[in-house]
Amino acid sequence: MSAALDDTLLEQLAREYGTPLYVLDLDHVRSQARRLRGFDRVRYAQKANPGIALLRALRAEGLHVDATSAGELLRAERAGFSGTEIELTADVFSPETLAAAAALKVRANLGSADQLEPYAATGLPDCTLRINPGFGSGHDAKVTTGGAHSKHGIWYEELERVCQRAEACGLIVSGLHLHIGSGADLANLERMVESMGELLARAPSSVGRISAGGGLPVPYRLGEPEFPVERYASTWRAARERWQADLGRPLELEVEPGRYLVARAGVLLTSVLATKSTPGHDWVLVDAGFNTLARPMLYGAYHRLRALGRDGEPCTPRMVAGPLCEAADVLTQDKGGLPAPQPLPAVQPGDLLILHDTGAYGISMASTYNGFPLPAEVLVEGGVPRLVRRRQTVEELLAQEDSAFDQVR
Ligand code: LLP
Repeated sequence: MSAALDDTLLEQLAREYGTPLYVLDLDHVRSQARRLRGFDRVRYAQKANPGIALLRALRAEGLHVDATSAGELLRAERAGFSGTEIELTADVFSPETLAAAAALKVRANLGSADQLEPYAATGLPDCTLRINPGFGSGHDAKVTTGGAHSKHGIWYEELERVCQRAEACGLIVSGLHLHIGSGADLANLERMVESMGELLARAPSSVGRISAGGGLPVPYRLGEPEFPVERYASTWRAARERWQADLGRPLELEVEPGRYLVARAGVLLTSVLATKSTPGHDWVLVDAGFNTLARPMLYGAYHRLRALGRDGEPCTPRMVAGPLCEAADVLTQDKGGLPAPQPLPAVQPGDLLILHDTGAYGISMASTYNGFPLPAEVLVEGGVPRLVRRRQTVEELLAQEDSAFDQVR
């Protein structure tokens, strides 16, 4: 966790804005962005955390942004991005998404050949092709986006056929993109370099941009090694130099991380509401559930837990669970839902817990299940906190049905 988010500040924020509360340290995000300077271009995958204030700050750092939907395109626009600063990566277009891309003149990164004709019909001149290189890697099978079991991308053997189809509808293929999964390992990430070389040799000469996608892992457990990002960037750069020499044209090298930029910049604060025991387990029930942080329930993901301001007290393994009426609503679980208790002191209702490294895929995957409104978010910059997303109200939740529910008798 970043030093700026000390326990005193976090406690103040929890008292002021209530819990569950996400807090993100912008200075930590910026320092992660600077570590990626070995690439020509860093395109932030906003699905990790799409806060508009965060997007604005990343734009000021010189980053570009990736979007998946009309919603994310409009967020990017709201944050000040325009034109080629934004790229739309999707395997399908909803009519709203395609219309938004056309209106904002945003290039698309196509993951299915059937997107070519509708995209060409917008009049946008060029596209990127997202290729499935035939292998994938991720922290969980559910986030592995390469190989025959993945729906993502254009199968690598089809490259020539898809390029011909693009040409037939007047589209220039200006870029190639690979993204094999999230939280991938270094060996597989480096294996992508080889794939890109093979693809470039078969691609039309209009290709002037290559993207290594995202997927860079971060350590979630204490003592886990840092991802060797300089080594990774220099492997790509060296290959890019060779390909430029072979092909006789410049190639812009892009990377598209989400998690790497924001995961460890964020924490989630939650209040203890009750404690109880069952044979073999001590339970701590808190106000954040899988509606607030879905990762443990979805992937058995580990997020280090601590009781705020209670470091040094004797700890025993405790299960921490949320407020939802569903057995899966446990924050301390392994893959398959197996219990994975964490050491905590004897906390009481009213105490605050902190879930570490929740800056990526935390608030962006939150839901309103069981009628709980979406949480608030605070951005800290230079030690100064600002509320950048107020807590949703129950009234706002109900409003979607306001003019509709009374039509049914
Ligand atoms: N580019 C594309 C096309 C992607 O689909 C993604 C992530 C990224 C970049 C960024 O990947 P990252 O650098 O953050 O690993 N909800 C899961 C992660 C799903 C990732 C989806 N796509 C989790 O909580 O671990």
